[in-house]
Amino acid sequence: MQEGPIGVFDSGYGGLTILRELVDRMPQYDYLYLGDNARAPYGNRSFSTVYRYTLEAVEWFFRQGCPLVILACNTASAKALRTIQQNDLDRIEPGNRVLGVIRPTTEIIGNISRTGSIGILGTTGTINSNSYGIEISKFFPKVRVYQQDCPMWVPLVENREYESPGADYFIRECLEKLFTQGPDIDTVLLACTHYPLLVNKIRRFLPAEVEVVTQGPIIAESLQKYLLRHASMSSRIHQNSGRRFFTTDSTADFDAHASIFFGKGLRSELAVIEDH
Ligand code: DGL
Repeated sequence: MQEGPIGVFDSGYGGLTILRELVDRMPQYDYLYLGDNARAPYGNRSFSTVYRYTLEAVEWFFRQGCPLVILACNTASAKALRTIQQNDLDRIEPGNRVLGVIRPTTEIIGNISRTGSIGILGTTGTINSNSYGIEISKFFPKVRVYQQDCPMWVPLVENREYESPGADYFIRECLEKLFTQGPDIDTVLLACTHYPLLVNKIRRFLPAEVEVVTQGPIIAESLQKYLLRHASMSSRIHQNSGRRFFTTDSTADFDAHASIFFGKGLRSELAVIEDH
């Protein structure tokens, strides 16, 4: 049985908004972050491409000794997680686990809404997969789910345009499309781990009574409960408060941008992922 850090994965920087909350809530654990910046964004890629990239990343984490990997990316969770859990895990490393961000979010999101109308904002891949519609209907069958893809939002964030006046146009456009579908939405879920960087602008364009939900705190609470329930897994995770950051692209670029997402400075290392 492998022992080591918790692996946290995203196509790029977005998963750092999740890692930040994990570290805040459970600082004792070792964490290893991988951003596949060389191949980001994933949001508009096909199922088979996102699946292949995500599987390659999971195998990379296992080679680093991670017994548990969190896909801190909605697109990868929507398009690759189930196949990896059902078809690949037994073959590669049966004792290890890979978890995503969609299930823990859909388990609780219906409790937040008073009107029973929830808006989901995500990448084109996440929205077209209808993963949120399907999962929310299992836990909250009466809740109405409205979904809108925001294909420009990840590029705005990756290019550090998230506070620029130019970003306002694309943010308003998607919010208007969402509220045209569901005028009584009172809860808007940011179902992409990049979007917390846009949260101030999003809040500015919405009425004060609309709740804007980010996933970091939800995922951190859910992982903490998971590790309490699965003592055999938590005992395999090193507890030296270690943090290592890897990127598949330029480490200098990663270090310059990642601090905005993570909330503090960091030094990354280059990851070489084996192509299938
Ligand atoms: N951060 C990823 C997510 O949560 C998407 C970014 C991308 O398009 O690569 O969906």
